Amino acid sequence: MTAHETVRVDLGPRSYDIVVGDDVLAVAGEMMAPVLRRPRVIVVTDTHVADLHLETLLRSLSHSAIEADPIVLEAGEQTKDISHFGRLMDAILGRGIDRDTALVALGGGVVGDLTGFAAATALRGIDFVQVPTTLLAQVDSSVGGKTGINSPHGKNLIGAFHQPRLVLADSRVLRTLPRREMLAGYAEVVKYGLIGDEAFFGWLEGHGADLVDGDPAKIRHAVVTSCKAKAAIVAADEREAGVRALLNLGHTFGHALEAETGYGNTLLHGEAVAIGTVMAFDLSARLGLCPPDDAARVLRHLAAVGLPTGTSFTDTVLWDPARLMSHMGRDKKVKGGTLTFVLARGIGEAFVSRDVPAEQLAVFMEGAVAS
Ligand code: GLY
Repeated sequence: MTAHETVRVDLGPRSYDIVVGDDVLAVAGEMMAPVLRRPRVIVVTDTHVADLHLETLLRSLSHSAIEADPIVLEAGEQTKDISHFGRLMDAILGRGIDRDTALVALGGGVVGDLTGFAAATALRGIDFVQVPTTLLAQVDSSVGGKTGINSPHGKNLIGAFHQPRLVLADSRVLRTLPRREMLAGYAEVVKYGLIGDEAFFGWLEGHGADLVDGDPAKIRHAVVTSCKAKAAIVAADEREAGVRALLNLGHTFGHALEAETGYGNTLLHGEAVAIGTVMAFDLSARLGLCPPDDAARVLRHLAAVGLPTGTSFTDTVLWDPARLMSHMGRDKKVKGGTLTFVLARGIGEAFVSRDVPAEQLAVFMEGAVAS
């Protein structure tokens, strides 16, 4: 068995481990047993992931004498709405759970967010374990306890902070991930370098292309480094009263682009974050906060690995600054009517800003399409 690496998320009584490595899925039962209140779980997954990985997980759970009941949802972001959530809750409660039953989320961000929210609310809160199967979920959404569903008013507007008891990130499962999904997750990996670790960004400039191509050692290094960065931020600010907001780099612009394109296949979340990140650095440079060379370096790297960075994307959709600004105004990061941006003084030096002047933002948005 390959060595596994463990990252601790330090949250007092709610602390937990993130285990990263090859074949973690095959020993999931052994790893879960110590954190379960009793050996019974309900595994929530989707049709895509079930075909690829459910059997391995169930075999491992049975090997450790953990009784497991699977629920397989249809794959896709549409599953994260209130009606699908209602049906999932009925399915979970219909299986006769008690407060010592745990949920297991086997899948990407949608399954993780939805199952986490089900765990937060079922019987007023039960335990859950995250088994993320996409790069995006392994480096971001499975860690830190943000759970939730979408509303017609916006993404993730209904939710709760509810920490998992354990996160099992199997590097081998990423081998079956479509390249586009891998790239979308890579945008969130780059984020950690840009927020506070210039050396990591430099490493990604050298090794990012191999990582996206599936190099296992590079994937493990990137997942562990990202999880360490996220664990430190979450431990310092679990409920996003301060520093955790830095994890939203690229997200104010990104969420507006996702809203404009209907949260579908036109633009994946990670792709929107890539464009949003380029815009955040571009805006920082135009406001005189960040050296233009750093903004250019960010754009160059994201484009080099094959992520959309602005022009390639805006060529294919109608760019409407007024509509994008109105989406931004509905973002849950708006406070007292003021937009929140994560800006940068350079690579690895991000900060939260609530005072971007409205006129300068409007001028920027008008010009961004041509950037
Ligand atoms: N994905 C951002 C956060 O967990 O805070």
